Amino acid sequence: MEFLELLQARRTVRKYDGTPVPRAVLEALLATAVQAPTGMNLQPWAFGVIEGVEALKALSDRAKAFLLENLDNFPLFERYRGMLANPDVNLCYNASACIVVYAKPGGATPEADCTMAAYNIMLAAANQGLGSCWVGFLTFTLDDAATKAAFGVPADFRVVAPLVIGTPAGEVSPVAKDAPEILFWQK
Ligand SMILES: Cc1cc2nc3c(=O)[nH]c(=O)nc-3n(C[C@H](O)[C@H](O)[C@H](O)COP(=O)(O)O)c2cc1C
Repeated sequence: MEFLELLQARRTVRKYDGTPVPRAVLEALLATAVQAPTGMNLQPWAFGVIEGVEALKALSDRAKAFLLENLDNFPLFERYRGMLANPDVNLCYNASACIVVYAKPGGATPEADCTMAAYNIMLAAANQGLGSCWVGFLTFTLDDAATKAAFGVPADFRVVAPLVIGTPAGEVSPVAKDAPEILFWQK
């Protein structure tokens, strides 16, 4: 796909058909992720991959329970209480794979670096005809000490981007974007 067309075509996908994403494709996405620029070229990232619709539904259930239990710490999420309590809601949208981008300690600009790696993954996925969604709701349970220990992730690594990936089920509607708000254009 032509590059500017790809930027327009990438959309957050919230419905997947559950088809497995081949390992080679996931490896190619990770290889693209690490091409992102990083402050001082420190490349302060590491990645985790979770495969399987059922594993991701289980992760979604844990994430919902975690947020419900800790809602006092997330007042902005109060509006999602009903959704989080609904057993039919799958925060991973029936996707078959999730790539988690972790920031390692010692980076100069780890959040920015990992976000750019995440965007590379999303664009590369779109280029392969795959959909993706950055599921912020998964961040809190993935970043919990017990979850990191269970996945063998060092306690001082921080979750930046949980990205679900898969084959979209159906068409994705366009999303209206505001024109750039230009604050100054000095000559
Ligand atoms: C940091 C971040 C967290 C997000 N968390 C979620 C989420 O938990 N669930 C979800 O469905 N979409 C999530 N999104 C996707 C946004 O809702 C989406 O990017 C936005 O609606 C614009 O749509 P577009 O990606 O198609 O341009 C997240 C996006 C970002 C950047």
